[in-house]
Amino acid sequence: MLFQLSEEQLMIQQAARDFAQTELKPGVIERDEHQKFPAEQVKKLGELGFLGMMVSEKYNGSGLDALSYVLVMEELSKIDASASVVVSVNNSLVCYGLESYGSDFQKEKYLKPLAAGEKIGAFCLSEPEAGSDATSQQTTAVDMGDYYLLNGTKNWITNGNTASTYLVIAQTDRSLRHKGINAFIVEKGMEGFTVGPKENKMGIRGSDTHSLMFNDVKVPKENRIGEDGFGFKFAMKTLEGGRIGIAAQALGIAAGAYELALGYAQQRKSFGKPIAEHQAIAFKLADMATQIEAARLLVYKAAWLKDQGQSYTLAGSMAKLYASKVAMDVTIEAVQIHGGYGFVKEYHVERLMRDAKITQIYEGTSEIQKMVISREIIR
Ligand code: CAA
Repeated sequence: MLFQLSEEQLMIQQAARDFAQTELKPGVIERDEHQKFPAEQVKKLGELGFLGMMVSEKYNGSGLDALSYVLVMEELSKIDASASVVVSVNNSLVCYGLESYGSDFQKEKYLKPLAAGEKIGAFCLSEPEAGSDATSQQTTAVDMGDYYLLNGTKNWITNGNTASTYLVIAQTDRSLRHKGINAFIVEKGMEGFTVGPKENKMGIRGSDTHSLMFNDVKVPKENRIGEDGFGFKFAMKTLEGGRIGIAAQALGIAAGAYELALGYAQQRKSFGKPIAEHQAIAFKLADMATQIEAARLLVYKAAWLKDQGQSYTLAGSMAKLYASKVAMDVTIEAVQIHGGYGFVKEYHVERLMRDAKITQIYEGTSEIQKMVISREIIR
């Protein structure tokens, strides 16, 4: 067992750390306050190759491993989870899905600009009536010969307005349940496709979350991903990798809050000494550091398994379940350590606490992760 990052991984980690400090940190409070999408920052992330990290160079990607990807996710999320969720969705859900299961035509036309960061992608599974119960898709795609006619509504779509390329999951034959589901590539601008208003969220407020409406949208047949009926498996396989990305996001949020709390506790004095020297605070810091390290090991292990070509279903769900709980616990403690200052925006920890919550909800709630984990261990 080797607990050592390679030179290249350390370099990438440092590049992401520098980017987060110089490009994300200025303006992060304002973007959160005004729900402003970090457009300029995302453009620069694309130029750095962070939007197609695991895609092969042949398709304009950076050709890196999953471990490098989680290192980047962790560093960006310490500062700005609204920016890091764009990186997560584009890399693990959209680019991974297209490179692994798309046709040559789809990779040429859609993957290349996404991996280069010239375009942004979105993954559209959730619906008003089908979030956790993903087989109950109400969006329909009727086979019309040369094209599918798409109708329905999708909810909570990250990058909903910013994206140009949408991977949309829809029911093509209800009688077949999950075997009658397909995944399609839908382009912004296709007739009948409209984007709903932006959601006013508790956390990751800079991220661009919308509902989407499809009204008789004609989707060319060549835009179906994989064989007929492959859509549910496509969504599940893609989400497995997505969960590692969100686990890394949760880890970064926790680590970011911990670093702030540690720094504050070392400089803030009460009763004649830094509060870090009071056992009540020192023990909190010890718990936080230990939880973060345990989460980190789970996240890195899941990424390592993916890099080895081994199954990571179990490890990815464990990492997401645990890291998201740690993110919640640690950010609450970070606010507590800051006292009254933790409750105001300038000190960042209240935002991290609000951002942490979504990691227990999206890409499968904690309850869904427990379902996946229990099935895997009982099987
Ligand atoms: N890999 C491959 N196949 C899988 C799979 C996996 N990980 N998981 C399930 N399948 C297959 C099963 O083998 C089965 O196929 P067969 O019948 O051929 O054997 C089929 O899929 C149906 O499986 P289940 O019976 O297990 O399906 P289920 O209805 O019980 O649901 C579930 C399983 C795990 C609960 C699934 O519905 C699920 O993951 N739900 C959560 C969905 C989710 O994460 N939503 C979040 C939205 S995306 C998002 O948040 C993105 C964003 O914008 C940030």
